[in-house]
Amino acid sequence: MCGIVAYTGTRQAAPLILAALKKLEYRGYDSGGLAVMSDGVITVEKQAGKLRALEEHLGDELPQGVTGLGHTRWATHGAPNRTNAHPHTDGTGTIVVVHNGIFENFAVVRELLSEKGHEFLSETDTEVFAHLVGELYSGSLEGAVVGALRQMEGAYGVAVISSHEPGTIVAARRGSPLLVCVGEGENWVTSDAAATLEHSRSVVYLDDGEVAVVTPDEYRITDLDSTRLEKTIATVDWDLSEIERGGYEHFMLKEIMEQPESISDTLRGRLLEEEGGARLGGLHFSDEELLSFERIVLTACGTSWHAALIGEYMIEELAQIPTEVEYASEFRYRSPVLNDKTLVIGISQSGETADTLAALKEARARGARTMGIVNVVGSSIAREVECGVYLHSGPEIGVASTKAFTSQIVALTLLSLKLGRLTNLSVLQGRELVQALRRIPGQVREVLGRADRVESIAEEFKDSTNFLYLGRGYNFPVALEGALKLKEISYIHAEGYPAAEMKHGPIALIDEKMPVVFMAPRDAVYSKIASNIQEVKARGGRVIALVTDGNDDLDGLVDYKITIPETLDPLTPLLCVLPLQMLAYQIAVKRGTDVDQPRNLAKSVTVE
Ligand code: M6R
Repeated sequence: MCGIVAYTGTRQAAPLILAALKKLEYRGYDSGGLAVMSDGVITVEKQAGKLRALEEHLGDELPQGVTGLGHTRWATHGAPNRTNAHPHTDGTGTIVVVHNGIFENFAVVRELLSEKGHEFLSETDTEVFAHLVGELYSGSLEGAVVGALRQMEGAYGVAVISSHEPGTIVAARRGSPLLVCVGEGENWVTSDAAATLEHSRSVVYLDDGEVAVVTPDEYRITDLDSTRLEKTIATVDWDLSEIERGGYEHFMLKEIMEQPESISDTLRGRLLEEEGGARLGGLHFSDEELLSFERIVLTACGTSWHAALIGEYMIEELAQIPTEVEYASEFRYRSPVLNDKTLVIGISQSGETADTLAALKEARARGARTMGIVNVVGSSIAREVECGVYLHSGPEIGVASTKAFTSQIVALTLLSLKLGRLTNLSVLQGRELVQALRRIPGQVREVLGRADRVESIAEEFKDSTNFLYLGRGYNFPVALEGALKLKEISYIHAEGYPAAEMKHGPIALIDEKMPVVFMAPRDAVYSKIASNIQEVKARGGRVIALVTDGNDDLDGLVDYKITIPETLDPLTPLLCVLPLQMLAYQIAVKRGTDVDQPRNLAKSVTVE
């Protein structure tokens, strides 16, 4: 995630900003930069990669000045290279901006500014905002920033300095955290109190729609109409070690709990209420091209492969386009029959998985068209494919993938919706899906709030040596994912199966020691799964079942019941997977394993 730090005071800004940015390293980022003002000139320095790269680039020659700002970027618009790194300047270099969030209408504004002669160096939405502030500047930085924000749509936390107004930082927030850290004879603006904690624990949190004008000796908070607001100074009373994981014990838990927000970020700006459709800005195929695809192949590894299986079911149901799923490691080495009527979609959180990358290269070499569903902007897979859909779910640090999985399902739903509306999905059906998707972040929050129930189940089964996960339809891949989560972080042997396949072998394993986790939401295959639960109970298995709120039908049968809210069938995996992530996490914690970095595993598998 991006990080903002801005300083104004009497000390040299550059070393302070660099040190503060380092405190945000745990959030993950792909480039960094800073700008420092001295004698009416602002020097901007930036570099792709870790802050170490920026430090090496600067050497001992840090830019001089007592006002400045810095940024760590996690790319959303444009590749993570030096040009796209923040800070960004207007055409004259007198306005300098750092920004977290996404300005959704930046392309339109960019076009308007281009017509007025503005030239842009980067692909970012932030540079467009910097130019707009420059365009509107007429003696007041605050006025220009507010004027520009009125024209921009989307989420932001911004900090702006200008050589016209030495010593002043103008900052504003909507949807992306920002605070003023209050010092003695110096003040800071930051997106995360972790950055400035060592300088002062007194902070003023900005709320959405608020603007801060900060100088070394004072700060003023207003709304966008310039009405002054009285804000309380809060005291930060936590320690750095805690906030690095946002107070959570592990990154995995933090990432599980972040899912209402990460899913919202994947959906942001992409749902078309009226048309009952989806807008996917990065999907550069025309409608004609999309309609020309006779077949879709989804290729991926691990958790991303499980998301692909759900995608296969969705694309076939909603868009009626023949779709298949391939392990990237198999696909790349066999001789798949491909041509330009086949669309091969690579799905990857990291965008660096060697097998997925190679599968896409192979597909291209064999004449197929390619696209990606990727989280990390500018990653190798993102660059390899013709076009794609970014997850925007923020950095995933825990080795066990959690929030990327739910965002992948959301991205695949949006793609299915887009394709479905081009083929056989009616406006009404599309609208129903759009509305159900809108409800998902709140429902995810609801399920995550029921963690206590899962905790007692984890306590009961933490010493089990085997687990079986069973599901049907859209939730068969969720069974696979639940089993993978458990085995990779708790080292308990677990298998996922389509529930009806149990009779063809795994049923032999069932006895009173075997916990069997069933996905049993009220969906098209509910009555079938209820019969499978009977079969397990008849053999003495211990059943943990995920059922829809208000369903008491299975009460006498199942040993442990976890409930999820009602939603449309294709969206049930988004809710069913949450208790499974939590179950795996809580069992692993109870067994004392290294949750975030389980043995033998790497976050990004760049070897085949
Ligand atoms: O970065 P990718 O999505 O391409 O990674 C694929 C797999 O390596 C990954 O999902 C892996 O299975 C995770 N450890 C699952 O939690």
